[in-house]
Amino acid sequence: MNKYGSNGHIIHHGDAIEVLRFEISDASIDLIFVDPPYNIGKKFSQFEDRWPSDTEYANWAYEWIDECIRVLKPTGTMYLMTSTQAMPYFDLYIRDRLTILSRIVWSYDSSGVQARKYYGSMYEPILHCVKDPKSYTFNADDILIEAKTGAKRKLIDYRGEVPKPYNTKKVPGNVWDFPRVRYRMDEYEEHPSQKPEALLDRIIRASSNKGDTVLDPFSGTFTTAAVAKALGRKTISIESQEEYLKIGLRRVLEFDEYQSERLERPKKNTKIKNARGVKREELTGDLFSANS
Ligand SMILES: C[S@@+](CC[C@H](N)C(=O)[O-])C[C@H]1O[C@@H](n2cnc3c(N)ncnc32)[C@H](O)[C@@H]1O
Repeated sequence: MNKYGSNGHIIHHGDAIEVLRFEISDASIDLIFVDPPYNIGKKFSQFEDRWPSDTEYANWAYEWIDECIRVLKPTGTMYLMTSTQAMPYFDLYIRDRLTILSRIVWSYDSSGVQARKYYGSMYEPILHCVKDPKSYTFNADDILIEAKTGAKRKLIDYRGEVPKPYNTKKVPGNVWDFPRVRYRMDEYEEHPSQKPEALLDRIIRASSNKGDTVLDPFSGTFTTAAVAKALGRKTISIESQEEYLKIGLRRVLEFDEYQSERLERPKKNTKIKNARGVKREELTGDLFSANS
């Protein structure tokens, strides 16, 4: 287990349960975003995302869920993701321990080959939970989106005594449309399950304030910490795989080097962008869509 850090940003290289248990104090975290392995057989560097059974996966998850609840402040918020098929286990376990405020669907389109004998998976579920439903952060005004009735169709509401235009902005509902991270996007890193910055931007703006501490126990490409840092939050990240630790050291702590290796953003093959670049993007979509 190794620890790196500077200016309010800490990265732990190690196992999430151990780091949570031995390194993170009770009631110290304002916001937790958890995007663990989904038990669907992805390869995360040296780690194989497959448990012998659903029950064993759930029992493993309950250990870090308990730890996350312990480190969350009484006013804290936690967002949890997992595969569509594993989410019922999480939901049933968590609803006895926290208040689930929203069951969010992150919906996306796919350019890859989709299922032909069943309905392909085009979404990932996210639980939005708080410790105290009477006292938690939700900065609705910081995440407003366009309300089409008012903004595009410019309709007037005649139901009141005085007719007035419909609102042009609204708080998002629980179905979120964000494209998955594709090869040609600026934010792309080499990782099989990178979450989009836009998704984390909404979560962090809504559920934390400047100076708050945001924890991500399964950091992957460190999207959470990178976005949280840009928004003026402090961060704690955990990742078990050295290959991805290096992304975090570069992306969050701005290291140029790790053990004499230069840390650089992925080099992209722009020369073949128009011919084979398209295919590469389809392949990425394919891998990402294997979540259920
Ligand atoms: C679904 S990915 C997270 C992706 C991340 N949200 C992003 O935007 O890039 C899960 C990550 O957990 C890491 N991981 C797997 N087992 C772990 C463990 N026991 N402790 C810490 N990290 C672990 C994997 O290496 C992988 O990078």
